[in-house]
Amino acid sequence: MTTFPESFLWGTATAAYQVEGAWDEDGRGPSIWDTFSHTPGLVANGDTGDVACDHYHRLEEDLDLLAGLGVGAYRFSISWPRVQPGGAGPLNEPGVAFYDRLVDGLLSRGIAPVATLYHWDLPQELEDAGGWPDRDTASRFADYARLMGERLGDRVRAWITLNEPWCSAYLGYASGVHAPGRTDPAAALAAVHHLNLGHGLAVQALRSTAARDALMSVTLNLHHVRGVSEADAPAVRKADLLSNMAFLGPMLEGAYPRELIEATSSVTDWSFVRDGDEATARQPIDVLGVNYYNPTLVRHWDGSGPKETADGHQDGTASPWIACDDVEFVRQPGPYTEMGWNIDETGLTELLLRLHRDYPDLPTMITENGAAFPDPVGPDGVVHDADRIDYLRRHLSAVAEAIAGGADVRGYFVWSLMDNFEWAHGYAKRFGIVHVDRETMKRTWKDSAHWYRDVVSTGKLPE
Ligand code: FCB
Repeated sequence: MTTFPESFLWGTATAAYQVEGAWDEDGRGPSIWDTFSHTPGLVANGDTGDVACDHYHRLEEDLDLLAGLGVGAYRFSISWPRVQPGGAGPLNEPGVAFYDRLVDGLLSRGIAPVATLYHWDLPQELEDAGGWPDRDTASRFADYARLMGERLGDRVRAWITLNEPWCSAYLGYASGVHAPGRTDPAAALAAVHHLNLGHGLAVQALRSTAARDALMSVTLNLHHVRGVSEADAPAVRKADLLSNMAFLGPMLEGAYPRELIEATSSVTDWSFVRDGDEATARQPIDVLGVNYYNPTLVRHWDGSGPKETADGHQDGTASPWIACDDVEFVRQPGPYTEMGWNIDETGLTELLLRLHRDYPDLPTMITENGAAFPDPVGPDGVVHDADRIDYLRRHLSAVAEAIAGGADVRGYFVWSLMDNFEWAHGYAKRFGIVHVDRETMKRTWKDSAHWYRDVVSTGKLPE
């Protein structure tokens, strides 16, 4: 029987734009995702986050759901345009009041709030002024972090600055399949840098405002990259540089690897990196957030024959893999989830052990892991999602294996608490352990929610 450490933190995760709805209520300003989803043709089925799961209006019910699951923590994100419309100036008090209620509601139920400051919903005005490719966005972000530290820092003891800056930069500004939908590789690398800088500045701002013992973190969607054969090692290295070291380098080592600068020299000269920026990006953090769904398989591409692009990130008109013209992303063997992502938990163990090897003093936490499946509601009105239970069981075993191998993994958050707006896929992909009826908004526990409650309460994986 697989048993987790007693102090292991069990949780579920969501993000503001994916669940809240109330997109234009109580003074909330527009974000790049409002603009993106309101543009015909960019999100499947014309779906938007206007209503999402109506979580903004169903807060108490959703807090009770969390209490029913027995989780020790809840990872949510703060909608920047809700609390500071336009991304500058004074706070919008009704917006802050919502997060006050959320945090207080969690604490009164014995659930630790884990707050992500940025889960992709940049105030539209900041994008109009240049977005993440513009240096000033990092300063705006730090200002917002400071304000949140001041207002929620007495109660929130775990902060995550950014969620998956890889997606913000490369899907938002290179392949354009996410908001704001730009396809400019040089801008995407500038966005990478300003996200790194913004992270560092935000940690500084939180350290000066939040509780002394608050944990600081950032969540990365590190790619566990493997090669088809030994000969593909250079392709593996390049994909690793662009996807992982572009963030781990500055944030944890205080420098971009020289190889990364060289590999991208035809795209940018990196002159947006100013003296001292890399040192600013490298702030001591307490735990590294890891989001893992599946591994990545690459091969050297010599230009002959069609190129595979099976990286799991949706094909846009351009590739998110800047300067990787000679790297092919190869489709991996199944089984697959509804996203078309292969199920392979061994990548998670290997990734956690690599992080432990490279950064032995930095604990990790799985801030997202989960799967979308078709999830039909059975004649009994229930979703019997054995496939999701199997996915979660495999990945939790993989975490336990990494712990047994010496990795200091502190917790695990299922993505997601409930079915929600899956970005450019709209509502077609259901990741929840709780089912949400799109007509009535009724929440119904799937079998996986019952299973997870048992895991959480015992700290063990059932046989
Ligand atoms: C991650 C996102 C999260 C969710 C999952 C499926 O990349 O952080 O919001 O969409 O994928």
